[in-house]
Parts: sequence; C-alpha cells; structure tokens
Amino acid sequence: MPLRLRLTLWYGTALALILVILGGALYAMLAHGLRDQIDRSLAETAAVAVRALEQHRVGAFLPFADLAAEFPELAVLDKSFQIFSPAGKVTIQSPNLGRLDIPLSRTALESALNGRATYESARFPGGSSYRLLSVPILLDGVLANIVQVGTSLRPVEEMLQRLLLVLLVSLPVALAVALGGGWFLAGRALRPVDAITLAAQRLAEGDLTQRLAVSQAQDEIGRLSATFNAMIARLETSFRQVRQFSADASHELRTPLTVMKGETELALRRARPAEDYRLVLESNLEEIDRMVRIVDELLFLSRADLGEVRIESRPVRLDALVEDVQRQAVVLGQERDVQVMMGTMEPVTVQGDELRLRELLLNLVDNAVKYSRPGEKVELALARDGATARLSVADRGIGISAEAQGRIFDRFYRTDEARAHAPKGTGLGLAICKWIVEAHHGRIEVQSAVGQGAKFTVILPVVTP
Ligand SMILES: Nc1ncnc2c1ncn2[C@@H]1O[C@H](COP(=O)(O)OP(=O)(O)O)[C@@H](O)[C@H]1O
Ligand SMILES: [Mg+2]
Repeated sequence: MPLRLRLTLWYGTALALILVILGGALYAMLAHGLRDQIDRSLAETAAVAVRALEQHRVGAFLPFADLAAEFPELAVLDKSFQIFSPAGKVTIQSPNLGRLDIPLSRTALESALNGRATYESARFPGGSSYRLLSVPILLDGVLANIVQVGTSLRPVEEMLQRLLLVLLVSLPVALAVALGGGWFLAGRALRPVDAITLAAQRLAEGDLTQRLAVSQAQDEIGRLSATFNAMIARLETSFRQVRQFSADASHELRTPLTVMKGETELALRRARPAEDYRLVLESNLEEIDRMVRIVDELLFLSRADLGEVRIESRPVRLDALVEDVQRQAVVLGQERDVQVMMGTMEPVTVQGDELRLRELLLNLVDNAVKYSRPGEKVELALARDGATARLSVADRGIGISAEAQGRIFDRFYRTDEARAHAPKGTGLGLAICKWIVEAHHGRIEVQSAVGQGAKFTVILPVVTP
C-alpha cells in the first residue's frame, strides 16, 4: 500500500475515533444535563404544590381551579398535576392532561406509604413519554395525599434527536473533508521523496551528475536531500578516481612494455654480437624490475583497500628506527652525492608495526634523496611534542608547487618536474605512506616551495609510559 494512502488512512481512523468519542460524550452529557434539569424543575413545582395543598386543605378534597387561582405558578402549561388518595385513586387532575390517564404506579405508591418521593419515566401508548415525580403528603404521620407532578419528555427527546441527526450528518462530512485535506497534505509532503526516488533511478542508470534541489529548510527532507547529494558527490568522485586509476595504471605499465618491445624488436632485426643482446636484456631487466615494483605496490594498496593488510600493534622505539634508516640512507645518498644527516633526535616510543614504519620512513628518505640535486643535504629529525611524535624528512631539492601538494598523495600522481628529474618513479610511494600513517592513527603533512626543497612531517600519537 503506498505510504500516502497509509498515512491518510491512519490519520482518518484516528480522527474518526476522536470525532465519535467527542460526539458520544457531547450527546451523553447533554442528555444527562437535560434530564437533571427536568428533575429539578419537577421537584420545585412539586414543592410549591405541596405547600399549596397544606395551606389550603379543607378536608380531603381540593378543586384544582382553586389551587390554580391561588398559585398562578402552578398553572404552567408544560407541567401536569394529579392528586391521589392514599389508596392510589385520582382525586384531582390538572386540565392539561386532557384525556391522558396516568395511573399511580405500584412502586410510587409503596414509596409514598413509606414516606418517600419517587421519580419515574413512563411511556404511554401514542408515543408520548413522561417524567413523573410523586411526593407523599403526611398528615400527623399518616399518608393523606400523593401529589404527582409530570412533564412531557418530548421536547428533550426531540432536541436529542436533532443533535443526533446533526452529529450523524456532520461527522462523516467533517471526516471526508479532513481525509481529503490529509490526502492532499500527505501528497505534498511526499512529493520530494518522489523526486529523490527519480534521482536515485537515474543514478542507478549510471547518471552520476544528478543532484537534488535542496530546500533551504533544515527539515527532514532537506537533510535527506543534502545527505543524498553528498553521497552522490562522493560516489561520483570515487567512480572518477577508479576510472582515472585504471587509466593511470595501464599507462604506467605500458611505458616499460613499449620500451622493452622497441628494444627487443630492434635487437632482433639482424644478427648482433652477444654483447649487444646482453645490453638489451639488461635494459629489459630494469624495465621488468620497475613493473614488478609497480605491481607489488599496487597489490599492497589494493589489499589495504580491502582491509587485508594486518598492522601489528607493538611499542616501537622510533628514535632507534630513524637512526637505523639513516645509516641505510647514507649509502643511498652517496650514489647521488647527497648527504643524509641527523637533526634533533629525542627518544620516542609509538605503538605500531615496525616493518611498516620502516617502509614509510624509507619511502620518504628515498624521495628526499631522489628529488635532491647533487651536493645537497637531507635531514632527518624526531621530536616529541606533547602526546605526539613529529618525524620529519627535509631536503633542499626541486620542491613541490602549491597546487601539486594537494595531489602528491594520490596514486600515480607525479609532478612533471619529478618525471623529468627521476623518470623511474612509480608515483605510488606517497599513497602507501599515507595509508601507513593513517593506519597508525596519525597524519602526514608537507611544506614546500618550488626549487627550495620539501619537508615531509609525520605526526604520530606516542605511547605514554
Ligand atoms: N622530497 C620531494 N621533493 C619533491 N617532490 C616530491 C618529494 N617527494 C615526493 N614528491 C612528489 O610527489 C610525487 C609522488 O611521490 P611518490 O608517491 O613517492 O612517487 P615517486 O617517488 O615514484 O615519484 C613525486 O612524483 C614528486 O612529484
Ligand atoms: Mg617515492
């Protein structure tokens, strides 16, 4: 069942229930109040009649005309009087009863004999119903007369019937109007949901440029649309990244293959001395090494993406690790006439995976050496700053432009200067560094200016003893 219909039905049911309860309560209260009022006015009339009887009693009989003349308030049209003998026989009857015969009931007579007044409702043939009050009149403790005051219930019944009619007609009308309004409002409220569904459909068909119009209101729908848009934007970015990544990966692998193919074809064009073949094979081996490195690094990154790379969590003496890597780096630097030195060094212990941290540091030092010019210096430093360790690798080499700084951690991204300076890179080292740092709950920053070197800083939480 569509949500719109369900909402309307729920709302309609609740409203119908409320209306019925309200109508019922109104009807019951009014009926009760009207009966009460009738009983009270009967009691008042009976009191006057009793007083009149007592004051004007001349023996056992009293003509009603006398009473009426003496007490005009008794001659009201909507009340009837009857005076009964102690035996229950009518002695006096007000003329407005006409030919209607209202006998004294047994219960009323018995109560009167016990000195108690009685209220009764009675229905007579012809459909008229009456409310009756029978009051005993005692003379020296003995029942002398019974005064009965009565009034027709017809006006009350008619009024209640009218009310019932009004309720029966107006409740369904009110309900119908409210249901119509509810249906309209539910439709209005759900229209943005339809828009979202439509957008999601187009999204499923592959159109990632879809965006929803976000209303300014910070309501549920507004928030949903904003969240939806943010989700699509992220999807679009990652789709683009995936496409870019495949393109980059194929390109990076194709370059060495093209070189190898060209050299091999050239070598095979005619017979050559063995030395020439050796040179070609050596060159090919170099290209193969590069491809192996790319594939290894790619494998690592995709396993990391899948959450399959395990990171150990052991205390690692970072200062000892840095010193160790520096000794290795000195050899690396000698090949390119770059001096690798130690700066400030403070004892720091972090929690993590020593092998991965070593890989991280080696990658950074390798870059620093690789992108330095002969005769320049690379400096490693480690300092403790509160609860964090700051490990930095600084060089004075070719540097990175501000625009490129935001992208060097992307897979396969290499600046043109870097490609010119060191054609053998893979562009994956920093992506791996970033992953390792983040797996250790740290972050990596870069400060650099073109031609003035670069400083990479790794910030890691330290183990507090
Ligand atoms: N120390 C550095 N000095 C200048 N540029 C750097 C430095 N380290 C990294 N870069 C830039 O970041 C890019 C990505 O680095 P990386 O992922 O390690 O790839 P690769 O070392 O194979 O070039 C490099 O190609 C280079 O443009
Ligand atoms: Mg590198």
